[in-house]
Amino acid sequence: MYASFKSIGAYVPPKILTNKDLEKIVDTTDEWITKRTGIKTRHIAENEVTSDLAYKASVDALNNAKMKPEDIDMIILATITPDYFTMPSTACLVAEKLGITAPAVDISAACTGFIYALAQAKAFIESGVYKNILIIGAETLSKIVNWKDRTTCVLFGDGAGAAIISATEKKEEAITDIDINADGKYKDFLITPGRGVKYGCESDRIWLEMKGNETFKVAVKTLSQSVTDILKRNSMTSREIDWFIPHQANYRIIDAVARTIKMPKEKSVLTVHKYGNTSSASIPMAINDLYKIGKIKKGDIMLLDAFGGGFTWGSAIVPFNL
Ligand code: ACO
Repeated sequence: MYASFKSIGAYVPPKILTNKDLEKIVDTTDEWITKRTGIKTRHIAENEVTSDLAYKASVDALNNAKMKPEDIDMIILATITPDYFTMPSTACLVAEKLGITAPAVDISAACTGFIYALAQAKAFIESGVYKNILIIGAETLSKIVNWKDRTTCVLFGDGAGAAIISATEKKEEAITDIDINADGKYKDFLITPGRGVKYGCESDRIWLEMKGNETFKVAVKTLSQSVTDILKRNSMTSREIDWFIPHQANYRIIDAVARTIKMPKEKSVLTVHKYGNTSSASIPMAINDLYKIGKIKKGDIMLLDAFGGGFTWGSAIVPFNL
């Protein structure tokens, strides 16, 4: 059995926060944010939490695949903004909202979470354990950023994306390759120190903290290497890729990595201007945008890449099969 990318769906909360709105909250400008990041707007969850966004994206993915919740054998949900920080997992809450009982687990790999979930789903399917796995990237980052810190609060947004990974006998539909990795020596570059047992409630550092410039440099270098390696080991170049769909943190990172692999601009997918950085949700949300406007078609080859807190990173070559 092979693992195939069968469906996609997404959801963003209705409230939009513009750069102009942010000018009224912190000492920043539309010009600075646009020039340094490419971000113009982001969506903010007001009366919803991560499991609500994840549930709505999942229903969209199920509808697009013409599948029912009962068809799902397992849920893997990537998030750094779970409804509860220890238990129950957000995946369990989504299973309940979908009205199913199935194995359900959260994974924590920051912005690389969706690619980690994809890798786990692929392994479960190829080993014959399950047939249909719902993978989700869902975040309400607006709830963990410090709205007084201009170096971080302007960057992030809320949203969710979901995909269904299914067993197939057709080799041409198979996920071609996935590369995931992590290096904990960078743990302090991107961290929410006061949300675990180490510092716990005694810490006032409960917000997301990032050494932006240092993170930027490692991200460009590491991602460029990861996509170069995965293309090389599959004897591929940017010519065989239909869509380059990177994690959406900063258009300058995307541009630098795309130039390394000589990816033409028209194949590079950019959504950071409207959604900001939605961490684990950004890749499935970008795939869904392509699908909803009818640009991506069955059989198209996607190159995904992501980089995030940990540091974690990964890339994947994936045929689209919806
Ligand atoms: N408005 C105005 N000025 C600002 C703002 C702001 N919102 N934020 C920072 N500045 C100032 C800084 O104070 C600094 O001023 P100084 O020179 O007087 O000290 C100046 O702008 C430059 O700051 P830098 O941090 O050097 O700016 P840089 O060009 O590096 O851009 C950014 C910052 C956008 C954060 C960039 O470094 C970046 O994108 N980093 C990578 C983010 C990323 O990929 N994270 C990983 C994924 S996220 C995850 O896993 C959850």
